[in-house]
Amino acid sequence: MALNRDADASRLAAESLAEDDPTGWFERLYAEAASGVAIVPWDRDQPNPILVEWAERRELDGAGRALVIGCGYGQDAEYIARLGFATTAFDISPTAIGEVRQRFPDSPVTYAVADLLDPPAVWQGAFDLVVEAITVQSMPVSVRDTAIANIRRTVAPGGQLIVISGFRSEGEEVSGPPWPLTPSEIDSFGADGLRAAAIEFDPQTQRWRAEFRRAER
Ligand SMILES: C[S@@+](CC[C@H](N)C(=O)[O-])C[C@H]1O[C@@H](n2cnc3c(N)ncnc32)[C@H](O)[C@@H]1O
Repeated sequence: MALNRDADASRLAAESLAEDDPTGWFERLYAEAASGVAIVPWDRDQPNPILVEWAERRELDGAGRALVIGCGYGQDAEYIARLGFATTAFDISPTAIGEVRQRFPDSPVTYAVADLLDPPAVWQGAFDLVVEAITVQSMPVSVRDTAIANIRRTVAPGGQLIVISGFRSEGEEVSGPPWPLTPSEIDSFGADGLRAAAIEFDPQTQRWRAEFRRAER
């Protein structure tokens, strides 16, 4: 029988959403994975190649502070830290954060348990680089505006945000997770002082890679 890597996530998400709890399933999935009875489908042993290609093309100098949203098992956060950024990375799942600390015991990254829908106030305007990869799309559309606004707020004056996501057509109904981002949802990152610097869509991978910047003060 073919292995369905998404089966556990789909099952737990359906239970969670039936309880009107958009994010509770993440901790349940990581906890089941820690017990060896579930698979985390986005677990990988390398940073996201779309992020790596972007960072190399931009020749990021690693100066300043970075924030990695919904960091999961930490591959992207470790990569960003290797570039030289003083990196904070967070996830809503305590089990994921516990696991990432075990995987990278000597990591320079500050890992934290936090909720994107209610982030710490001290993160407001605090980061020169913010990395969002497929976390917003993993939450239902009902909380999308809040999630996007909270990500925007973390970008410091002169800072930049990179968003990596799947694609959904305007008005297209999907029974997620995931609920990939429409063109207008991608555009909506560019508000409250953030402006779009480069919005790219790769039809081969069906992925957005969108870059936003906040003007210097
Ligand atoms: C689809 S996974 C992506 C993980 C990682 N960004 C990657 O690209 O592999 C979404 C991650 O976001 C986390 N997450 C979901 N909702 C969150 C929230 N409200 N606040 C913080 N993290 C959240 C989940 O626990 C999960 O680790």
